[in-house]
This record gives sequence, C-alpha cells and structure tokens, in this order.
Amino acid sequence: MSEGRNVKILITGGCGYIGSHTILRLLEAGHDITVIDNLTNSLPESLLRVEKLTGREVSFVEGDIADTSCLQKIFDQGNIEAVIHFAGFKAVGESVAQPLSYYRNNVSGTLNLLETMDAYGIRNLVFSSSATVYGTNPDMPLKEDLPLQATNPYGRTKQHVEQILTDLQAADARWRIALLRYFNPVGAHPSGLIGEDPQGPPNNLFPFVTQVAVGHRDRVHVFGNDYVTPDGTGVRDYIHVMDLAAGHAAALNFLAEHQGLHTWNLGTGRGYSVLEIIQAFEAASGTTIPYELVDRRPGDAPISLADPSRALYDLGWKASETLEDMCADAWRWQQNNPDGYRTKTSLPGEGPPC
Ligand code: UD1
Repeated sequence: MSEGRNVKILITGGCGYIGSHTILRLLEAGHDITVIDNLTNSLPESLLRVEKLTGREVSFVEGDIADTSCLQKIFDQGNIEAVIHFAGFKAVGESVAQPLSYYRNNVSGTLNLLETMDAYGIRNLVFSSSATVYGTNPDMPLKEDLPLQATNPYGRTKQHVEQILTDLQAADARWRIALLRYFNPVGAHPSGLIGEDPQGPPNNLFPFVTQVAVGHRDRVHVFGNDYVTPDGTGVRDYIHVMDLAAGHAAALNFLAEHQGLHTWNLGTGRGYSVLEIIQAFEAASGTTIPYELVDRRPGDAPISLADPSRALYDLGWKASETLEDMCADAWRWQQNNPDGYRTKTSLPGEGPPC
C-alpha cells in the first residue's frame, strides 16, 4: 500500500451511517471498494445512492464478519490491501441489557476478522472506535493518551478491541493500525441523498431533533439541565460526518507511509450544549422544536470535547464544517427522506449472499 495509489479496500459495516459517507469519500479519491454488511441495522439502499452520487460501483456482499468462509471468499477474489472496520452494535442501553451479544458481535466478530486478515497477509486496518472509551473523564479537552475507562458494555467492547489491536501490533510489526476515536458524528452528505437512518427510536440527540422537526415525534427530551455547563445541559463535540469521512481517508494515507499503531481523536475541539443544538437546528430548518426538560440520562458525562491536535499534526486533518452546515445538511437529508432509506427512490440492490 503506498500513498496516492488506488487501493482496494474492504469496508465492514459499509451500509451504515459513517461507513456509507466514508465510502463516498474513498470512491471520490479513486479507491475500489468492497463492502461486507449483514444488514442488521442498515439497508443496502445507502450504497445504491453512493453509486448514484459518485458514478462508481461498489461491490457488495451480504454477510457477517463472524463467517470465516464469507471473508475467505472475499479475500480469495484478491487484491484487498486494507480494511476499514465499522461493523458492530452501537446502542449503549441495549448493550447494558444484552452484554453477551455485544461482546460476541463486536469483540468476537473482530477477532475473526483479524485472524482471517492475518491468514491472507492483509495487515492494514482502520478501526472505528469512539470517544466513549474515555468514559466520564473530566480532563477536558480529551487527549489520546488519557487512561481509558468506558462505563458501559458497548464502550468496553471498543476499549477491548483497541487493546487487542495494540497487543497484536506489538506482537507483529507488520500490522499497520489506526484507531479513530469519533466524537459525536452528525449531519449528512450535502446532496441530501445519504444520511443517518436509525432503525427504531433514535438514541442520540441529533437524529431525534431531526425527527421532531419533520413531525415524526412530538418533542425532544432534554436529559438534565443541572450540569455544570453554561446553560446546565450536556455539552458535546459534534463533528460533521463528511469531516469524519475525510479523517478515514487521511488515516489510510498515513498508514501507507508509516508503520505501527496510531490513535487519533476525530472531533472539532468545540462544544455545543443540547439547547444550542436545538436552537441551531430551528434556525437551519425554519421549524420550532418543542422540548421538555427531564432527568439526566444515567451514565452521561456533562461535557465531552476532543483535543484534535494530534490528528492535525500527524494527518494534516482538521474538521472544517460548521454547526450551521451540520444542521442544514441533516435537515436536507431528513426532509428529502422522511422515512430514511425506506423513502425509496429505487429498489434496494441485493448483494450476493455468502
Ligand atoms: C452516545 C453514547 C456513546 C456513543 C455515542 C454514539 C451514551 C451514554 N453515550 O454519546 O457511547 O459512542 O452516543 O454517537 O449513550 N440528549 C438529550 N436528549 C436525547 C438524546 C441525547 O438531551 O434525546 C443529550 C445527552 O444527554 C447528551 C447530548 O444530548 O448531553 C448528546 O447525546 P447523544 O447524541 O446520545 O451522544 P452521547 O451521549 O455523547
């Protein structure tokens, strides 16, 4: 793998929110993309729309990373040089209720992927981690070398996989690994054709707000207004999903030139409160977002903010989209697709089952 050259990349979980935006970015950079996705929480319609936007084809396999023979079939077709690993469960509350399924899917699934990659000599990996690994550490802004202390099973699956990858790279220097810790990804591609499509009630603030704006839900519940923050509501580092996508492309380029394991925060370094998000979204959408103050959500930190300076220094990457862009793009997506990808403009493509 060398920088600037077209690379054939396997994207696990590529039909999902961050995966689909990243694929679009990588296709635009000239890379070739194969996706493996079991469609648990996503629809293949997202890939059709990426193909429409880019005029390029994506090779899609409906399958699971826990299925070794499925991965083998993909790798046997040859030339995959790098993997970007998004596949995994991500709902905090569900992870508390069903920890075994989270450890099985997120940790065991990853082990299977790594073993199969290793057997094929594919040792370039970008891993989709999360700022959730910092837990409720109050040491703001959060730097990559802080101790990790995830507070729920979902977060611990990310932390465990980071540790597994660290041990793997220490044992075999041929592995080149990037751990990307996302802060709060929001927004959508500016075309309004792809975006976030939660299955069931959204757990996260931004998609909840957009669903209230479009009339699917009555009001936003604001979880707590007694935090030690300027207006008492929780503060987060929201990052536009297209900036995040660019971060993956930058990390991949970096791995082409550098050995080792590298960890980067992908955030803006700037925080907004829940009430600021509601106001900004009202301004961008011209709607009124009714809200109600309710109790804190257990496990929520008052503030979460990235120190993104390492990514700037190493990768030359910096988020550039504003909160106004995030709101305008999320609104365009939601308005054009009130029912997400079920608001079909074309029939979903069926990938060959494994
Ligand atoms: C949450 C997860 C985190 C995960 C991330 C993925 C928890 C505790 N944390 O982060 O592990 O990596 O999503 O994107 O679930 N809020 C409301 N009303 C809502 C929803 C949220 O007031 O209906 C508030 C929250 O209290 C928080 C802010 O909005 O202050 C952002 O919440 P959310 O979008 O869920 O993200 P995180 O909690 O940061």
